[in-house]
Formats: sequence, C-alpha cells, structure tokens
Amino acid sequence: MERFYLTTAIDYVNGAPHIGHAYEKIITDIIHRHYKQRCDNTFFLTGTDEHGIKIQKTAKENGTTPKEMCDKNSSYFKEAWQLLDIDYDRFIRTTDEDHKKIVQGIFEKLLKQGDIYKHSYKGLYCSGCECFLNAKDLDENGNCPIHGKKPDEISEENYFFKLSKYKDAIIKHIKENPDFIKPAFRANEVINQLQDIEDISVSRSITNVNWGIPVLSDPEQIIYVWIDALSNYITALGYNVDGNHGELFKKFWPVDVHVIGKDILKFHSIYWIAILMALNVELPKSIYAHGWIMINKDKMSKSIGNVISPKSVMDAFELKEADALRYFMAITAQNGRDGNYSDEEFKEKVNADLANNFGNLLNRTLNMSVKYFDGTILNEHINESELSNKVQETIKKVKSAFDEYDVASAGNSIIELADCANKYINDNAPWTLAKEGDMEKCGKVLYTILDTMAALSILIKPFCPNIAQKVAEQLKINTDLKLDEIKTGLLKEGKLISKEEIKPVFLRLDSEFADKK
Ligand code: ME8
Ligand code: MG
Repeated sequence: MERFYLTTAIDYVNGAPHIGHAYEKIITDIIHRHYKQRCDNTFFLTGTDEHGIKIQKTAKENGTTPKEMCDKNSSYFKEAWQLLDIDYDRFIRTTDEDHKKIVQGIFEKLLKQGDIYKHSYKGLYCSGCECFLNAKDLDENGNCPIHGKKPDEISEENYFFKLSKYKDAIIKHIKENPDFIKPAFRANEVINQLQDIEDISVSRSITNVNWGIPVLSDPEQIIYVWIDALSNYITALGYNVDGNHGELFKKFWPVDVHVIGKDILKFHSIYWIAILMALNVELPKSIYAHGWIMINKDKMSKSIGNVISPKSVMDAFELKEADALRYFMAITAQNGRDGNYSDEEFKEKVNADLANNFGNLLNRTLNMSVKYFDGTILNEHINESELSNKVQETIKKVKSAFDEYDVASAGNSIIELADCANKYINDNAPWTLAKEGDMEKCGKVLYTILDTMAALSILIKPFCPNIAQKVAEQLKINTDLKLDEIKTGLLKEGKLISKEEIKPVFLRLDSEFADKK
C-alpha cells in the first residue's frame, strides 16, 4: 500500500461538539493510525461546515454574526479534537478562502457545461437537514423525521443540478463495486433512494440565504451548502477545475474512504458521486457509513438537545488522557450500527478491558519478572512462544477488520488476544513454577506474556496511543513498528526493568463515580 487518504464529515458549527461528532472523529483517527502502521503516506482531513441557513438562523437567534459564531464554535471543535488526540493533517473550514474560490470554480464549470441550469421551484426545506424534502419523506405530523420540525415552504428561482442524468451510472457503479458502500448492507438503501431521484436545487436566493458562497457569475444566488460542503474533500487537496491540480490532489486523490454518519449517506453516495462524475474526477474508493451514538435510545443531536460533550465525560471521570473514551467509542457500536453511551457502560467496559484484562496482565507479569529474575530476560527464556500463532492470527483479523473499516471488530480481536494471554498465564501459573523451582519454564512463560504484550501494545496503539506508549516504555520496544514487523523476539536478552520503573498503564475508573455524581 503506497498511500492512504481518509476524511470525516465536516461538522456544522451551530453548536459545540458532542460525543456523536467525537465518535466519528475517533473512529476515523483510529483507522488513520492503523493505516499508518501499514503505509508511509497518509492524509487525514477533517473540518467544519460553516455556511447555510441553519448557521445564519442560529447566529441571529444568539444575537451574533455568522462569522463570529463560526470562529468561536469551529475553535471548540478543534479543541475537542486536540483533547481526544485526533491527529489530522488538515482542518478545513468552508469559510477558508482557498476553499471558497475552488467551489465557485466548480459551480461555474458545471454551469458552463450545462449540468447546472436555472429553474423556478416550490418545495419544503428542512434547515436541520439543509435540504428539500418530499411530502412522502415527512412523518405523520408533517415533520422532518430526523429533526422533528416542520419544513419551510419555499418558492424561488434557483439553479438546478442535473442529478437525474447520472442516476443510471451511479446505480451501475454501486452494483459493480461491492466495496464502494460499506458496510454492504447500506448499498440497497442507496439503490432504493436512487429510484425516484430528481434534479436538485443547488443555490438559494441571497434574499433568503446570505451566509454562503455567491455564484461567481450571478452573485444574487448563494451556492447550496451541500455542494459547498461536499467539495471540501477535493478543495482541501488543491483540486483545480482547469486541471492544474495541487501536489496533494495528485498524490492522494481518489480518496480511500469518506467516513460519515448514516444520515448523510445519500448526500455522499448520490449527490457527491454525481458531481464528481460531472467534473470527470475519479470516484472515491469507498464510503463508510457509521451508525449513531444514542443516549437512552435517542439520537443525540443539537436539534433535539440531549447533548453530552466529550470534555464533560473526561472531566467527570477526571481523565487526563483520551484513551479510555477512544476505546469505548470504538467498540460501543457494531460495524455500521448504532451504539449507546452511558456513564455506567463506559466505566464498566474500560475497567474490564483496559484496567483488568490489559493493564493488570502487564503489571503482574513485570512484577514477577522482577521478583524471580531481577527484571532480566535470559537468552534461554526467549522462545517461539505458544502464543505466536495467536498473535499472527490476531494481526490478520485486525487487518481484515480494518479493510472493512470495522473498528469495533478490530478492537474486540485485540482484547481477545489479551484474554488469551490471561488464560495462558493462569494455565501455566508461573508463580507455581517458581515455587517448584522450574525457573527455566517460569522464565519462558513470562517471556511469552511480555512478548505478546509487546505485540498488543502495537496493535492497540491506534485506539489507545498513550497506553501503548506506556507499555512500550516499560518493554523498551519501538512503538513506530509497522504491523508486518511484529514478530516473536521483539524483547531482547538483558535487563528489562527494575521495580521502580513498573507503572500501571491504565488506572481503574473510580468505582464510587455513580455515588459522587
Ligand atoms: O451533517 N452519533 O453535519 P452535522 C454519531 N455538515 N454520529 C453523529 C451523531 C450521533 N449522535 N450526530 C451527528 C452534517 N453525527 C454536514 C456534513 S459533510 C460534507 C457535511 C455525525 O454536524 C453525522 O452523521 O450534522 C455526520 O457524519 C457528522 O456527525 C456531522 O454532522
Ligand atoms: Mg446532522
């Protein structure tokens, strides 16, 4: 694998980030860190979506200007991603000048070649979704089923994009490329939506929406926020309508995966694909639609108002590092399905997996190594361990899970390996071997565990970079190893550790938490 480019959705800045936004950025960051262990050239793009009626309205309600609100809220997203160790390469804002210029160029090109035309229109617009809805999309009360609000009736002369022209080509592409939409069970949904697809409005009159990018040749019209937003995936790389693309675009396009929520799959697998077809730009290799993080079965959203911020979780549990929240988020939802967050589930899961299963194993083993061997690895202890096969099997499982962007399965396989190592230590009872004086066997057993922990630290690094670092420091191994470099014998003969150097890698979350709250 030579290069890997991945993106998240860019978040609306009509509020501060919640753990649903965090979920997406965390799983994308985990995918990115995993692929860094498989290839040298990667690019991870995230950012904020700052135009449109929703932002314009919210700013007005808050008695501020859209620009001020965007600057403030966009910085909250950046701060949250820093707190969560989201290691992106560019944070794009759709108010960035380079982005705006390229979007105007894209619109002009499509206008010139006849893919965009002018048309009077009447329709129902949901500002929560930032899109027109058909009467049949509404619930029994005539509300948007996602936002629970009545859409606005709108009648304007707008520019339209010839989406219907691309319908058959998109259906064909989805059918011929089973890896295009992941998980695969979502592909049918898209095919169904494509059946009654019509041309879409791609601009709004400046009298109704003024916060956006004006059409270059007709500044009375503002470019539709979804056209503006979707284009970020290529504007960020320096796409150029004239073909004079920037180095990043040449190097990283087509994108390996757009990671997005299931609610915006239609925009990515239909609208965006049609735009790229119209621009004659290569299509994304895949689009991964994740499920929603629910709070007591309700989707968390700024519009509904049941919002938990990542910072509030970190603060409540007095966490200095994001590993626990990253790990929990990664495994709380099965591949593409919804997941749940509750303080109780979070605490129980990370205590069980990270503190007990993973952390204690290392701690116990290192303490025995100090007690029986003064923390030294002898040559005769180094062995092709009984767990080597299991380690290699886990690496394979983890890789194929990540091939599907199935972060939860990858995480579970890693913890299963830790389970195996725990079973191995209990079955082989090195403390009994020491008591019986079988020091060679005892040393071999401890080596097997530590060697497996070394592999585990590299495997878990994309999920829990700080824990991985602490394990690696104690085992004196290099955490920058690629996955293919994991093999028996990473730990070398000689002094490994002294009593004072042994540190817990993850502390149990306070079990009194529920009472304190
Ligand atoms: O849709 N659980 O922005 P957005 C999981 N600006 N994911 C969630 C979630 C939850 N509870 N709530 C939101 C937009 N998300 C557009 C995207 S991309 C060119 C433009 C996810 O702020 C949601 O599914 O409403 C989406 O992928 C992302 O957060 C941003 O949502
Ligand atoms: Mg949304």
